[in-house]
Amino acid sequence: MFTNVWYVAARSEDLNEKPLKVRMLGCDFVLYREPGGRAVCLSNVCPHRGGSLANGKCKDDGSIACPYHAWSFNGEGKCTEIASRRDENPQDVAPGVKIDAYPTEEKYGLIWAFLGDEPESAAPIIDMPEYNDDGFRSTTHSEVWETNYHWAKFSNLDLVHLPVVHGIEFQNQDNPIAPPPFELTEGDDGFDLVYYPTSRIRKGGEWEKLRDGDEARKVKSRMKFRVAGISLYGKVEIGGVGSGMHNVFYEFSTPIDEQTTAMHYIFFRDFMLQPELDKEHLKRNLMQVRQDKAIAEAQQPRIAPVGPDPNGFYTYDEDSEIQLYWNLMARMRERGWQIDRKAWTEALADGRYRTIPSPVRKKDPKGWVHEAVPRYARGTTFDGDAGKK
Ligand code: FES
Ligand SMILES: [Fe+2]
Repeated sequence: MFTNVWYVAARSEDLNEKPLKVRMLGCDFVLYREPGGRAVCLSNVCPHRGGSLANGKCKDDGSIACPYHAWSFNGEGKCTEIASRRDENPQDVAPGVKIDAYPTEEKYGLIWAFLGDEPESAAPIIDMPEYNDDGFRSTTHSEVWETNYHWAKFSNLDLVHLPVVHGIEFQNQDNPIAPPPFELTEGDDGFDLVYYPTSRIRKGGEWEKLRDGDEARKVKSRMKFRVAGISLYGKVEIGGVGSGMHNVFYEFSTPIDEQTTAMHYIFFRDFMLQPELDKEHLKRNLMQVRQDKAIAEAQQPRIAPVGPDPNGFYTYDEDSEIQLYWNLMARMRERGWQIDRKAWTEALADGRYRTIPSPVRKKDPKGWVHEAVPRYARGTTFDGDAGKK
């Protein structure tokens, strides 16, 4: 798992007046709103005796009080009060006391948290032009998958699975399972893919009216992958090239831990905009989500491989996207951002909680009750422990 990435921590609608406990990257965080509405993300584990802040109370001054002895911490992670000694400066009572606080952003109806200590190096959150475009209607969905975040992402970021898993065959070529020609563009924090499969409209329901007849038509399909949010965007021109009707999805994956992933979706359409068709739109999109989930949850190994799957074959042409994905992960590893799972497991045996280092640790590295999770040293490559590429 990787630090120094923006992740989707929750949906905006799920964060109200009460604090919310969220597990990400194998650590516990608390989200809450300051009186002005700003979302705060702190490490959930109180540095006093490990109380769970999410079971505590939000106060009018924008801090949160631990449920155990009511020590309070504000949105910057500063200890603002030690209840039993409230007339004294917390720094005199417990010198150095503080908690990790992480940058947040609220965007697209989602609460994003930056989990790391180098926010200046963060890859940007993906653009979502459809979000404020009246020409689109959206539906949303979130769920947890019992699989690691790589498998969760690959179940959509893969061309050959389209005909095999979803029945979206590539027509008008000898082999309908072979990916059609595609253009792939690599960027610093992701890649874009354009290809032209041929597909049919699935029978049944309102969507059938989108096209006369049932013959397969060539459609334009775009995909984007971005590191921030482990985001996947897909846009398919349904009904044939030039139809002007598009189904768009955004899929965000947040590792809860090494073998569990939170999946958040926003689906858009720019056709059949009647609100009463939202249900059908969601149903159509979720049908594919179910199919992807079934594959990913049954896949081995359960725990996320550290690098390019040493158990797998990659056939370079059709798996070029997966190759680029691992290239991006390799760059983050080289920057010293990847959690060293083995070292962490060993460290946990000493009975001390570890957490994701927050930006303030760069300036103030001493005096933290909870040490940072161990990470691979800068300059570490995938050669060696990650097997073949
Ligand atoms: S454990 Fe949080 S105040 Fe004591
Ligand atoms: Fe899929």
